[in-house]
Amino acid sequence: MAQRRTGSSSLTKLLGNWHQELTRTPVYRQLADGLRLLILDGRLPLDSRLPGERELAKALGVSRTTVATALAQLRDEGYLASRQGSGSVTMLPEGLQAVSPLPGRGATLDLSTAALAAGPEIHQAYANALIALPEYLGSTGYNQQGLPELRQVIAQRYAARGLPTHADQIIIVNGALSGFGLILRLLTGPGDRVVMDHPTYPMALTAIKGASCRAVPVSLTEQGWDTEGLAATIAQTSPRLAYLIADFHNPTGRCMDVDTRIAIAEMAARTRTTVVVDETMVDLWFDNPPPPPLAAFDNDDRIITLGSGGKSFWGGMRIGWIRASARTIASLIQIRDTLDLGSPVLEQLAAIHLFNEADNFLPGRRDMLRQHRDACGEAIKEIFPDWKITVVPEGGLSWWIELPKPLATVFAASAESIGIRIGAGPRFGAEGAFERYLRLPFTLEPTQMRAALERLKPIWDNLAQTRDEYLRRTVV
Ligand SMILES: Cc1ncc(COP(=O)(O)O)c(C=O)c1O
Repeated sequence: MAQRRTGSSSLTKLLGNWHQELTRTPVYRQLADGLRLLILDGRLPLDSRLPGERELAKALGVSRTTVATALAQLRDEGYLASRQGSGSVTMLPEGLQAVSPLPGRGATLDLSTAALAAGPEIHQAYANALIALPEYLGSTGYNQQGLPELRQVIAQRYAARGLPTHADQIIIVNGALSGFGLILRLLTGPGDRVVMDHPTYPMALTAIKGASCRAVPVSLTEQGWDTEGLAATIAQTSPRLAYLIADFHNPTGRCMDVDTRIAIAEMAARTRTTVVVDETMVDLWFDNPPPPPLAAFDNDDRIITLGSGGKSFWGGMRIGWIRASARTIASLIQIRDTLDLGSPVLEQLAAIHLFNEADNFLPGRRDMLRQHRDACGEAIKEIFPDWKITVVPEGGLSWWIELPKPLATVFAASAESIGIRIGAGPRFGAEGAFERYLRLPFTLEPTQMRAALERLKPIWDNLAQTRDEYLRRTVV
């Protein structure tokens, strides 16, 4: 793997408010906690080379001994390796996964991932797919556009949502994220700008950076998408692409209204900007189904739509798709040669079954999630009365919470120490933004979720109190 160097100013930005005065936790431990969190949630990529101790100490305003002790602790825990001539390089301890016991700290409860386990319909779908499979075994199974039968079912679903679509306008990919990677590969080059919602889905940010593009954030306001801000940013930065999550936005759970969809489609045509609309969560609505897809308001083939079975069905299937003009799809098929040779046939057959059965299980999934959303919202209000909820998610899987103090990073780092992993706001923003925010998924059973929040309560209270005390002392 090519090793990248993370500069001290980037690392300082990524670390955000890692340092709390007046706590009994030594500074080196706080630094180690902040760095560990960055490695665990992927903001500091694996195999990244850290700046030297002296440089880091200067950038962070701490002693070199503090940095050396923090790095030594991370080395002992398996989060850093020392390579001769390369300094410290990030890694994960052997056997550590997203949900696994942390060394000596009990089981980890993962509240940093917003996804559901498979329902019984998934097993049934695979059983059906196995029955259908023999018909396909006489062919090579290679099909870079995807099975025509699956593309046909997906095209019909778009048509039913108000967007007439032909099966030629669909390519099946291995998940929406992989689809976004393919689009970036086709349409962007190093240094190109990609406009995105801010906050956004963290892996989309990773994909943009991975394609050596520059992410240009446009803030989502309390009212939702800021079309004027988007227009001004497009005019000022001439981006190659815009990536927007219209329904339902991750992490806020917002749904883009019809007027905004019309305005964005017009803007895309006027400025000749390709807009990628991620609809991964589109089936997870609670009160009202979302408006027609943004692409339904587009007369200029500027809108590319990303779809996924990951949230409607199961993430483990790795089935997603791209809807675009037949010409763009043909180019995507061509460039796919540089990546893979198609998607697994069995999974595609299972997806056909699931689409045909969706009306039998999606309503139940929506009811369950609506109840989880409400119960989790009530528990948050009760247990953390000073946390602010500005948007009630209209769909999706998570609450986006505003904290009264910019403590997300230290809070997440401290939560790790009791075996709970949470999504600190800066994961969802560029350059360390959203230090006052947390994303809390409501995928757990309400009783489990309440128990997790109650375990987090003393940690939050302690941090908030320590900070208040510090501010009081420094102001006096
Ligand atoms: C907005 C958004 N896009 C894409 C993905 C990834 O989808 P897939 O599993 O289909 O790659 C997710 C998963 O959480 C998501 O929230």
